[in-house]
Amino acid sequence: MNGPGRRLPKWLAGALMPMTIAGPASAATPAPTATPPDQQQVQRGEQVYARCQACHALAQDRVGPHHCGLLGRRAGSVPGFAYSQAMKDSRITWNEKTLNQFLSGPLKAVPGTSMTYDGVPDAKDRADLIAYLRYANESAQCRQSAAAQR
Ligand code: HEC
Repeated sequence: MNGPGRRLPKWLAGALMPMTIAGPASAATPAPTATPPDQQQVQRGEQVYARCQACHALAQDRVGPHHCGLLGRRAGSVPGFAYSQAMKDSRITWNEKTLNQFLSGPLKAVPGTSMTYDGVPDAKDRADLIAYLRYANESAQCRQSAAAQR
């Protein structure tokens, strides 16, 4: 066993750090509104992810491959998952940019993909969803499955 059960991902912990207030003027000036990659965005993204759960899960392959470890992974690289040749040949590495592109129109982004899904047309929904996927990667579910695969 390693580490405490609940730990904020580093990027989120940093963003939530209390702001250091400089000088006496700050009492009168309203604190600048920090815009951390907020929990609300992650929660909205989780709701968008419900659409994906028809075929995907975080930690298991289903109709589609599991999503733990997605960011930074090469497309078509989960061992034992039967990808389309198109996905295997796509040479994509999943990050915010490539996911945004793919999810806006999977069949256009990777012609021949077996992910026969129209995608997420709304840009904000996509951003929320990608924030969720990044966050979910730090979840206990994902950390356990990563440990099990080692
Ligand atoms: C109808 C079922 C279905 C739905 C709904 C679906 N997917 Fe997929 N997804 C698949 C299949 C099948 C693949 C494998 C595609 C291939 O090999 O061409 C896939 C592949 C992917 C990949 C590439 C993964 C890799 O390992 O390279 C990503 C990313 C992905 N899906 C994200 C999503 C997200 C996010 C959603 C929700 C907005 C979603 N999918 C909804 C079936 C689905």
